[in-house]
Amino acid sequence: MNLTNIVLIGFMGSGKSTLSKTLYQQSKRLILDSDNIIQNNENLSINEIFATKGEQYFRNLEKEFCQFCSLNIQNCIIATGGGMPSVCDVKTMGKVFYLELEFEELLKRLNPQELAKRPLFSDTNKAYKLYLERKDIYTKSAHITLDATKSLANLSKTILSSL
Ligand code: S3P
Repeated sequence: MNLTNIVLIGFMGSGKSTLSKTLYQQSKRLILDSDNIIQNNENLSINEIFATKGEQYFRNLEKEFCQFCSLNIQNCIIATGGGMPSVCDVKTMGKVFYLELEFEELLKRLNPQELAKRPLFSDTNKAYKLYLERKDIYTKSAHITLDATKSLANLSKTILSSL
């Protein structure tokens, strides 16, 4: 199994993209952010993909991204969308770190502008249900679970020293 990549998973707002930038600065590994790559490839925002092509179409793109990385990518930082561990085996991409955070904390971190980019966070009650459904999936999908309330420097150090 390919364990050279650092794979970040966790619910929306858990800080995967932010932490990937700190990891880049500390390690100079390149970042592959699945949401950014999918949006660029499709030339559409996540909201537009969900609205015009549907969620299933987006999930298929996530599966393809996961398969591609498993086969072709090494020594990179892979920041995943929050739903990816529900649609594919993220461990095939590399060493998986789950950024665990309480729902209340996620809510605090996502400002209105960030919330508006996320179709599955338009209704807080539904997002909370999804959060509960996914907790186990994240834990099972990860090699290591991290307390995402820790500082970026601390998280980055823990990840890089565990490789
Ligand atoms: C999603 C999370 C989002 C994005 C899409 C769906 C999810 O990514 O992939 O809106 O199902 O949890 P972030 O986790 O980066 O917000």
